[in-house]
Amino acid sequence: AQTPRNIAVFGAGYIGLVTAACLAELGHTVAVRDIQPERVRLLRAGEVPIYEPGLGELIARNAGRLAFTTDADRALADAEVAYVCVDTPPTLAGDADLSRVWSVVESLKSAPHLLAVVVKSTVPVGTGARVRNVLNEAGLRHVGYVSNPEFTAEGRAVDDFLHPDRVVIGGADPQAVRLVADLHEGVEGPIETMDVASAEMAKLASNAMLMTRISFVNEIAVLCELTGADVEVVAKAVGLDHRIGAHFLQAGIGWGGSCFPKDSEALKQLASNTGHHPQLLNAVIEVNNLQKRRAIQKLKDALGSLDGAQVALLGMTFKPGTDDMREAPSTVLAARLLAEGAKVRTWDPLAEPAAGAEPWASTIRCGSPLEALSGADGAIVATAWPQLLEVPWAEAREVMARPVVFDGRNLLDPAAMRALGFTYMGVGRP
Ligand code: UDX
Repeated sequence: AQTPRNIAVFGAGYIGLVTAACLAELGHTVAVRDIQPERVRLLRAGEVPIYEPGLGELIARNAGRLAFTTDADRALADAEVAYVCVDTPPTLAGDADLSRVWSVVESLKSAPHLLAVVVKSTVPVGTGARVRNVLNEAGLRHVGYVSNPEFTAEGRAVDDFLHPDRVVIGGADPQAVRLVADLHEGVEGPIETMDVASAEMAKLASNAMLMTRISFVNEIAVLCELTGADVEVVAKAVGLDHRIGAHFLQAGIGWGGSCFPKDSEALKQLASNTGHHPQLLNAVIEVNNLQKRRAIQKLKDALGSLDGAQVALLGMTFKPGTDDMREAPSTVLAARLLAEGAKVRTWDPLAEPAAGAEPWASTIRCGSPLEALSGADGAIVATAWPQLLEVPWAEAREVMARPVVFDGRNLLDPAAMRALGFTYMGVGRP
């Protein structure tokens, strides 16, 4: 059986909380440190500040092995391993902002029992080597550095942690790598150990591959529209080839979220900083941006003009099953619609944009899809929420001023929508 360890987790965001709860579930004792007092207060009161299925139950079930604090020294008092799960948002220059990572590393200098520091935050390739230097200069040569990127998707993060396709552990110190690998006893999935730079790159390359697949299918969708083919049928046929696989071939208005946009920029920066022109990656990003322009253009063509038009924007989060609005394609759509003079009526079951934040402050939030569709000249499906399949579309047809629907996620049934009298447009569908 494994040795239960004392672990400190820095950052109580999506990754930090999921990591902490899962490590506790595996039998370890975990102290989570976050700099936001309100967040810590909520967690201590048994509330979970983010939406992630299964996380609340996991935290409640392991409450005895989980502690929350704003005090770094307290979190580190017994810690043998420190996980860095703070966010690394893009700077204005497009690099990842590592200031939060550095401030955690700074606090490690006062950890009496520390054996290893594990970085889960997505960081530029080369960060590990820099952290190693800082640790060495602080007299912490005995603390091993380990890169352990996360590959979890929001909405299924707990399951991804406990049943991953693989766990990537990168490190130069075999003892630290072993220690971190052992922490995963009970996790069902292969462990891949490697050097630090490869681990950092594996994360960025995995995400870039997924983005590439989406932009690829979106470009095929454009060709489908030109030729009368149906991208849904094409993607299914293509995906059945076991060398290709069926996942991440869903055409639509493109990818968003907390990882893909940031990671693609980070990878681009990395390439540019070394004088390399990342042609493929640039094209992947460009196709993704174009998808949103094309969406607006299609609606504009169908309505004649967007000036003064009422548009229902159905779905705001970057994907269903999350409340996360970071880099959501809907944000760009809303901003462009407003710029064209449209009035935007929104619906989303979970999204909570910050008060006063644009473009949302200039839109009207509705309590149901039907309410958003009331009086609308056109509608855009921006997020594939299953609730949109339950909309009484016959009734919607009656309450809309003009029955024009652009389905940016190919969620609805084109034939059924047309039978109801809608002008239905999807992505890459005849
Ligand atoms: C992603 C990666 O999947 C995960 O491995 C990594 O750790 C973090 O980034 P996440 O951002 O949670 O996870 O979302 P994901 O489910 O991958 O979707 C990303 C975006 O791509 C969404 O906007 C989604 O709508 C879009 N998408 C996804 C498509 O447009 N088509 C697809 O076929 C799949």
